[in-house]
Amino acid sequence: MTTVGIDAVEIWAGKTKLDLPGTFAPEKDEEPDKYRKGLGLVNSSFPDVYEDIVTMGANAAKRLMDREGLTPDDIGRIDVATESAFDNSKPVSTYIAGCLEDVYDDDFHHANKGERKFACISGTQSIDDAYNWIKAGRNRGRSALVIATDTALYARGSSGEATQGAGAVAMLITEDPSLVELSTEQGYGSADETDFLKPNQQFPSVDGKRSMQVYLARMREAVEDFESVAWDMHPDDFAYIPFHTPFPGMVRKAGLLGYRHMIRDTEIEDGLADEIGRQPRESEFEDWDAYEDAIQEYMDELKRTDTYQSWYADTIEPTLSIAREVGNWYTGSVHVARASALKTAAEQDRDLAGKKLLVGSYGSGAQAEIHAETVVDGWREEIENLNIDEQLDQRYDLDFEEYEQIHDVHNHDMTVDVEEFTTPRGVRVRRPRPDERATV
Ligand code: HMG
Repeated sequence: MTTVGIDAVEIWAGKTKLDLPGTFAPEKDEEPDKYRKGLGLVNSSFPDVYEDIVTMGANAAKRLMDREGLTPDDIGRIDVATESAFDNSKPVSTYIAGCLEDVYDDDFHHANKGERKFACISGTQSIDDAYNWIKAGRNRGRSALVIATDTALYARGSSGEATQGAGAVAMLITEDPSLVELSTEQGYGSADETDFLKPNQQFPSVDGKRSMQVYLARMREAVEDFESVAWDMHPDDFAYIPFHTPFPGMVRKAGLLGYRHMIRDTEIEDGLADEIGRQPRESEFEDWDAYEDAIQEYMDELKRTDTYQSWYADTIEPTLSIAREVGNWYTGSVHVARASALKTAAEQDRDLAGKKLLVGSYGSGAQAEIHAETVVDGWREEIENLNIDEQLDQRYDLDFEEYEQIHDVHNHDMTVDVEEFTTPRGVRVRRPRPDERATV
């Protein structure tokens, strides 16, 4: 049977960064440890003045196509997932294809282009669409390009400002992939929620604390749904568990929730019974609130155990190394987490072929999706091609005033006065017209 999955991945980080504990926290009169320890962030990536979701997505895709030796004829489908579309009209994939056509002097006239929207989960949904397209035999031997690209900016002065970021991830979906093989089983948790919205506005209206609860509630439902169609999961089933990572502190909570769920009725729960007791069962309680409180108490104990901490260090921590340096990339975030984990495995010379990943995607609004992937032969060569460390090292370190200027340049609702400032690298600030965006 044909296997379908992710054949190659490329990451494009915004060209500037903001040091959160060092530059941002003092300006906000906050403790640097809120960022280092609480949110788990060191830097946020930001686009330079001449970058946007199109240039970042096109650059990621170009690196991927060059590396794989592809021409436009090899691509039958281009889907862009974004939460930051800038003109709210035609799909961003048309702009990105336009940039690539200029570079390759060839066209994508026979490729199906689209744009997926469901907050951060739409990157994963685009992969699903590509998978289904290939599995249905409609691809005529061609591959699909999925590009997740976002400038995740929040209004200045809002609490979301702590968790911003920008960058793009390009992924090639093919038959007989070289990175990970996708499976047919998926679990969903989905509900009509209004915790994070952008109704005709660029920056989100977000209830931060509630958005975290909604993330965890939908993720729990998705795990339960996955178990109902796949198998009863055990923590040792997975080499890594990449989650959607708005900031690493969120994944700390998701990881604990997943672990608590997976150890139920296993030898791990039995082994921990003397130390922290067995976890509460719903049937032991009169009402849901009392049961939830008891579960919370159990989780507070669980997270302090060596058993949990060592599992977390092996299975979750490696998924966070890039996120700590770049912040939230919305649609690209879970795919950055996967790449982080595989990159760590390659650096540690681990043999991952045949091992499973459990991938937890999430989008506000709200929906979580869980699926398993199998790492395939060839993964190491693919992942060693990433130059993300180099990109991160080369980013320009913004001071606070420069950060505010960059933020204003990317604020679509603001007209930045051309004469008002010149950036530290001498770039004159002016919002580019669409026909000027092809800076690949
Ligand atoms: P905040 O008010 O900036 O931060 O809100 P805080 O005061 O809650 O502190 C954050 C953490 O740092 C807390 O840890 C503090 O205790 C800790 P927690 O209690 O949660 O475990 N802390 C410290 N730790 C050590 N030393 C210290 C210290 N001080 C504090 N000195 C919030 C944070 C994330 C709510 C805010 O930044 C926000 O609203 N962000 C945007 C919304 C968001 O990212 N939500 C995440 C879930 S929803 C999602 O992921 C979807 C999304 O990606 C969109 C999409 O789907 O497209 C957003």
